Amino acid sequence: MENLITLVNKLQRACTALGDHGEDTALPTLWDSLPSIAVVGGQSSGKSSVLESIVGKDFLPRGSGIVTRRPLVLQLHKIDEGREYAEFMHLPGKRFTDFAAVRQEISDETDRETGRSKQISSVPIHLSIYSPNLVNLTLIDLPGLTKVAVEGQPESTVQEIENMVKSYIQKSNCIILAISPANQDLATSDAIKISREVDPTGERTFGVLTKIDLMDKGTDAVDILEGRAYRLQFPWIGVVNRSQADINSRVDMIAARRREREYFANTPEYRHLANRMGSEHLGKILSKHLEKVIRSKIPSLLALISKTIFEIETELSRLGRPVASDTGGKHYMIMEICRSFEQIFKEHLDGTRPGGDKIY
Ligand code: GDP
Ligand code: NA
Ligand code: MG
Repeated sequence: MENLITLVNKLQRACTALGDHGEDTALPTLWDSLPSIAVVGGQSSGKSSVLESIVGKDFLPRGSGIVTRRPLVLQLHKIDEGREYAEFMHLPGKRFTDFAAVRQEISDETDRETGRSKQISSVPIHLSIYSPNLVNLTLIDLPGLTKVAVEGQPESTVQEIENMVKSYIQKSNCIILAISPANQDLATSDAIKISREVDPTGERTFGVLTKIDLMDKGTDAVDILEGRAYRLQFPWIGVVNRSQADINSRVDMIAARRREREYFANTPEYRHLANRMGSEHLGKILSKHLEKVIRSKIPSLLALISKTIFEIETELSRLGRPVASDTGGKHYMIMEICRSFEQIFKEHLDGTRPGGDKIY
């Protein structure tokens, strides 16, 4: 039932679009309870590269220094057919088919909020990508952890980034995608350090090892990938992303994925692990896991939705019906949305709905 992820995506968008209107209801709690996957790691550990490999598209701003300065909530939607496109929540109805323009818009929208000052902001950008070649998944890209502020940034930025990352990953419903580069000592990994603080038993952390191709000759990552160096509940996943030279010479994603597959299949040390390595595998595993987590949360999500409906009904009867004002209209809208979700979640819970959710 892949559609549970789509359903939660819709709920997430509905909650965000309604903004503060549901403030005095259980809606904010509901929003906080929606399971999500956050990508964390140090600067240049390969976060953007991993995200782009999962999506199979170049669309993230790049460069040195702190490029990601606002959280990016990335919703991936698998569609049956048709041309792939992207849409931002702050630009409803505008379909981007040129992914270079998507990158530009992420960067412009970051500047609009932070005033080009290289400051960071915790106000997320919401981007949806629709394609037949995707798995359903929601990923949140967060600013990279650093030890020192860059030129032009206040010293406090380092701590602000850490606090922002923590505010996402400390929620018990957040799945952590912890990115560590294989060409650095795992003991110094920012991703491991911060995820260990919030998830000491590793029950909601997926360890991803990047830059395996850049390790010193004579060394390999087998101890890490087999879980002996740092144990997590889920198996570690190794990836080989495009190098900077590949990006400069415009090696495309399809070629990069093929090369990654060949790398694991043809390197003697990793051959026995090849079927559980690589970006494609990572995307599939995450989608499956997210769906499982959502399924286990249905009862508590339903309780919150019912609570919201009850609160709004109470508020509406206090206002007296019919309500013509904008506030009343918003209340009806929230209630309508909650009712559709309630219905579909219930059907999922009974197992009576094999798929094909269509609410708006
Ligand atoms: P971020 O700052 O964590 O988002 O890191 P990026 O994804 O921008 O990667 C930083 C640099 O490392 C870029 O030049 C990438 O091309 C390079 N890179 C990332 N992953 C790999 C990898 O697996 N192998 C190689 N050779 N280079 C990588
Ligand atoms: Na969430
Ligand atoms: Mg990045």
